[in-house]
Amino acid sequence: MTTNLAKKIEGLDRWTPVEEVILARRSTRAFKKEPLPDFMIRRILEAGRFAPSAGNSQPWRFAVVKSPEILEQMEKDAVRICKRLMFVLDYTRSRFRKIFLKPVSKFFIRLQKNELHPVPFGLLKEIAEERAPVFHAAPTLILLLEDRRSVSSPQTNIGICGQNMVLAAHSMGAATCWIGLIKLLMYDPKWKKFFNVKYPYQLNNCLALGWPRVESDGWVQREVQLVEWYEGGMQDPPRIERQGE
Ligand SMILES: Cc1cc2nc3c(=O)[nH]c(=O)nc-3n(C[C@H](O)[C@H](O)[C@H](O)COP(=O)(O)O)c2cc1C
Repeated sequence: MTTNLAKKIEGLDRWTPVEEVILARRSTRAFKKEPLPDFMIRRILEAGRFAPSAGNSQPWRFAVVKSPEILEQMEKDAVRICKRLMFVLDYTRSRFRKIFLKPVSKFFIRLQKNELHPVPFGLLKEIAEERAPVFHAAPTLILLLEDRRSVSSPQTNIGICGQNMVLAAHSMGAATCWIGLIKLLMYDPKWKKFFNVKYPYQLNNCLALGWPRVESDGWVQREVQLVEWYEGGMQDPPRIERQGE
């Protein structure tokens, strides 16, 4: 190894500050009422603006919601929409529904499988019964809108951009939670109009942002990944390494 490269890896027996943020970050669902100061929100937006994107298309638009009135209305409406959705979809409520509604619900869930996979379906039930909030009473939301004309996958571009913001926020001691369930609001044309969600834009996701009200649990175990390492020739099988053990 050249002296230059050897110098670069000096000290890498410890986590870098960026790695520490990545490893310790957890979703927060309990925020202080007081929002982050605007300069911090702007810095978080900067982290998103500087994200890489396919073809450098930067296919995003951001909206910051701080107004308590609007936030309250968003929460109320998301719960209302969720109740309606579950009224139609929740076939577990009675024997009659189990027999007659189950096939219809299953079909609808299958059509929307990324949105209504069993995990969010359970959460939707809790929200409809007002046992779980949608936006966790966060004092600020950042809406992430994707430009559908983007090069390659808009979903990937927005994911990278949003996670840049998340990591920037956590590096400043702030807390975040992705709120994919914001899409509930898109069932109501009122909110599409309110946030000017029309072609080429569509609402992709949302970040709840603020000061954490409770200490996060920090590092947790994640699934061990079986990673294939291709290091030999074309005829050689990959070496499987158990990443995370
Ligand atoms: C794209 C995306 C959407 C998410 N949507 C929600 C959501 O609507 N509500 C919520 O409470 N958490 C949401 N989460 C948070 C996940 O539940 C959380 O990241 C996961 O359980 C792992 O926990 P951790 O973030 O604490 O590591 C979302 C996460 C991602 C990446």
